[in-house]
Amino acid sequence: MVEKFIVTPWEVRGRVNYNRLIKQFGLVPITDELLEKIKKFTHDLHYFFRRKIVFAHRDIDWILSEYEKKNQFYLYTGRGPSGYTHLGHLIPWIITKWLQDKFNAKLYFQITDDEKFLFKESISLEKIKEFAYDNILDIIALGFDPKKTRIFLNTEYAKTLYPEAIKVARHITISTAKAVFGFKNDSNIGKIFFTSMQAVPAFLESKKMGRNVPCLIPLAADQDPHFRIARDVLPKLGYYKPAILHTKFLPGLGPEGKMSTSEPETCIFTIEDPNLAAKKVMNAFTGGGATEKEQREKGGNPDICSVYQYYLFLFEQDDEKLNQIAQECKNGKRICGECKQILAERVKKFLIEHQEKRSAAKDVLEDFMLRD
Ligand code: TYM
Repeated sequence: MVEKFIVTPWEVRGRVNYNRLIKQFGLVPITDELLEKIKKFTHDLHYFFRRKIVFAHRDIDWILSEYEKKNQFYLYTGRGPSGYTHLGHLIPWIITKWLQDKFNAKLYFQITDDEKFLFKESISLEKIKEFAYDNILDIIALGFDPKKTRIFLNTEYAKTLYPEAIKVARHITISTAKAVFGFKNDSNIGKIFFTSMQAVPAFLESKKMGRNVPCLIPLAADQDPHFRIARDVLPKLGYYKPAILHTKFLPGLGPEGKMSTSEPETCIFTIEDPNLAAKKVMNAFTGGGATEKEQREKGGNPDICSVYQYYLFLFEQDDEKLNQIAQECKNGKRICGECKQILAERVKKFLIEHQEKRSAAKDVLEDFMLRD
């Protein structure tokens, strides 16, 4: 039986089969050969690359060859502020920060408050704006370079963005928007226009500089459909197609599905009380046996274990130690209780440190903001 999963910008459901997603979306897998090429420029590889957490791309080889010719690229990524940031959101941002450091690249960070207003009809624009400014603290806390990073809310930078968005919109038909995003006749009309706003930062630097500047967009794979459209339209406006790096989804702490705000029990928010987060970890779904005895005898299964995924994505960056965790799980030496306990301590430590950085970010927030 083929396992069912869904990946759209507004919904990710089921256990994602990334090889099938590559085929479905027409992505290019990240190969070892490509990693060697990246390493030529960066000297080492972030563990997201080594572990294929960054699993696919579009045109990254082109970005590298332009870079080699001294045609510097800029980075672009974003956030839709419909709630507090969770650990999953950090995944594409962490690799964006690493790329900024390694390539000394400028970054545009788009906060789509307009999108969340149009797509989450239960929240007011004021509330979304509050989340936006809270989410920006998480972004700054990750250590982006204030001289090279510009963050903006779409509604606060609309005078710059809107004239560019309508140029994109003129090339997108309703039937394309329906086919790509599944809109129906009862969808509000703002939804149909929105993708044009998300396209603008993919050529904003070219517009500002008056010459074409390559753009690289790190994102988790759910955001790819927006840029399939943008990659069709931008050459019609005289710009390069943006290149893309796709990350996998950090799963929730339950048996399946990505970490998602809509399932708070299995989701760790960055603003959360570290002790509560530790409790959630202790309640996580694991790949262990029903009893300690059974697990000691038969071993556990890290492949289906959410706790193991947390070590893999964020909480064990040493490859050898990660491998040891997997081996000791499989041979029954490591049992779930202690494995969860160690993870819970690491999550707690991470949150305490991250929350201190969020507090410090309040003082420098204005250095990052772009407004009209
Ligand atoms: P949003 O706010 O849904 O998500 C922000 C970023 O986090 C990624 N993401 C995840 N990554 C790993 N594991 C997860 N569980 C997980 N959940 C979400 C998303 O793919 C995204 O990269 N419309 C966008 C905001 C946006 C944007 C962009 C994103 C505007 N311009 C350019 C990427 C690139 C949104 O609502 O993202």
